[in-house]
Amino acid sequence: MTGTGNHLEVHDLHVSYGQIAALRGVSIQVACGETVCVVGPNGAGKSTLMSAIAGGLRSKDGRVTLGGKDISSSRPEDIARLGVSLVPEGRRIFSTLTVEENLKVAGYLRGDSKRSASVMKEIMEMFPILGERRSYPAGRLSGGEQQMLAVGRAIMTEPTLIMVDEPSLGLAPKIVDQVYAMLDKIRRERGVTLLINEQSSTRVMQYATRIYVLRGGLVQLNDAADNLRDGEAIKKAYFGFADSGEKKAQP
Ligand SMILES: Nc1ncnc2c1ncn2[C@@H]1O[C@H](COP(=O)(O)OP(=O)(O)OP(=O)(O)O)[C@@H](O)[C@H]1O
Ligand SMILES: [Mg+2]
Repeated sequence: MTGTGNHLEVHDLHVSYGQIAALRGVSIQVACGETVCVVGPNGAGKSTLMSAIAGGLRSKDGRVTLGGKDISSSRPEDIARLGVSLVPEGRRIFSTLTVEENLKVAGYLRGDSKRSASVMKEIMEMFPILGERRSYPAGRLSGGEQQMLAVGRAIMTEPTLIMVDEPSLGLAPKIVDQVYAMLDKIRRERGVTLLINEQSSTRVMQYATRIYVLRGGLVQLNDAADNLRDGEAIKKAYFGFADSGEKKAQP
């Protein structure tokens, strides 16, 4: 999606699992081509938010629009066709399939094998390590390579919006930097918009234009990343004012 204006708008989303209210009126906005990060602790509602945007969970109230089009009641496959791709938490690649097979499976969704082959070639040119390891079972890749494959898989459908749920999960800091550099390269070279979930803002800060802090199913803070560099406001929003003295984790 090119041009100006918001790519994604989420307005007043409410999602519950039975009695558990996971999102209690969440609104976010993501402009075309920017990188927005939703930061929040365990159980904040981050994954729920992405599932709801992708159509995997329904909101009782509220609205999700994509390029101005209301997709609140669209089916997941239709939302995917409109250019939304989700890289799920924990990556969920097929470990016994090869790198190439993992990408091919993702390409089936679009039903255009010629185009799929050419996108796969682009992905392997962009990330040569995936090309070198194309015949390896995906389970034998390192954590960083698996994350790269999970993102490559998301690109197979040529999305305009890529949502990545905790890309740094389980990765060493140096590898996390590589994964972020890769995501930023995709954003620049393919002109996509990125929405990223993280438990910590430390690494994403360098790339994000806007940060939302989510806790307890509510947006506690929403500001341009440039205004949040010292980390103080994020810390308060992340832990809540009452226990902001907590030192055990770096949000
Ligand atoms: N399938 C489910 N059934 C019941 N409750 C759920 C389910 N999935 C999530 N929850 C609850 O919904 C709330 C939000 O969970 P969610 O997974 O969206 O948080 P999160 O911010 O992604 O957390 P994490 O950082 O651990 O991935 C939590 O209270 C969680 O326990
Ligand atoms: Mg999660």
